[in-house]
Amino acid sequence: MSMKTNRAIELHSAGHATLCGSFWLDAHFAVRMAECEAAVRSVGIQPGWRVLDAGCGTGPFLPWLAELVGPGGRLAAIDLAASHIERVRAHAHELACPVDARVSSILELPFADRSFDAVWTSYTSEYLTDAQLVTALAELRRVTKVGGVVAVLDNDAHPFRMGPVEMPLVWRFWDAASKTDDPISMLARGELRISSMRRWLERAGFADVSQTTRLTEFWAPLTEAQHQWVTIALDFFSSYERIGLSQADIAEWRAICDPNSTRYLPVQPDFTWCEASTLAIAWVSP
Ligand SMILES: C[S@@+](CC[C@H](N)C(=O)[O-])C[C@H]1O[C@@H](n2cnc3c(N)ncnc32)[C@H](O)[C@@H]1O
Repeated sequence: MSMKTNRAIELHSAGHATLCGSFWLDAHFAVRMAECEAAVRSVGIQPGWRVLDAGCGTGPFLPWLAELVGPGGRLAAIDLAASHIERVRAHAHELACPVDARVSSILELPFADRSFDAVWTSYTSEYLTDAQLVTALAELRRVTKVGGVVAVLDNDAHPFRMGPVEMPLVWRFWDAASKTDDPISMLARGELRISSMRRWLERAGFADVSQTTRLTEFWAPLTEAQHQWVTIALDFFSSYERIGLSQADIAEWRAICDPNSTRYLPVQPDFTWCEASTLAIAWVSP
């Protein structure tokens, strides 16, 4: 299996390869919809609010955001990928409130200061370098009203586990992946960094910051959606040959990721999967 498959790679306008094609996004959303819904409902978004979804992707959170703000509210949605924004626009009429969807970067938001009561950004911070994250958080704060809220949700590598796999193998993967120049390193670093997002938000000047982690867990036998997601998720680990792991680790990963191997992970009878999403909620004080 390779990250070079069209289904998983999308070159967005920033020019770098990202695991954020719509096929990947849809499959992932399908297995953790309940956790996603619990996260967005926990922010405290109120009817009538104006809310920005920054890095909206194909828009999976927009129906919940629209329901929360209701017909008297308004949404804006931005993403770097024009194909994602096209899809959001195509489905805009299905939402409970108007949505203004634009191609734009979270690093330079096309909105005036203090435009929004809330800003939601999900699974996007991991696509940013540390320096870009500082810029993005300053932008999110700039466009949020005093008394408003910013919520950052992302994949958290720390609680991740899958079985039957020796976990030190997985930890060595994260460590090596986060230290290479491979495109995977940005995601690996981001998925390790989210566990301290609370501190990043405090340093960015936000107040009353809180943070919660939610798990998505499943076991064999897998549903069709879970099987599809795990198959795709192994694309993330398929950079094992390029990140400086030992030959012994490479052999292990090859067995786990090769559909022709007897040890191919998704078909193991004692298969287990646990992934985590961490949500940080921060308020803008006067
Ligand atoms: C994993 S997807 C998440 C999409 C959506 N928020 C969700 O929860 O499904 C990451 C998204 O971030 C977008 N993205 C990456 N860098 C960005 C940037 N600098 N500005 C805006 N969007 C960006 C990608 O195009 C992609 O749609």
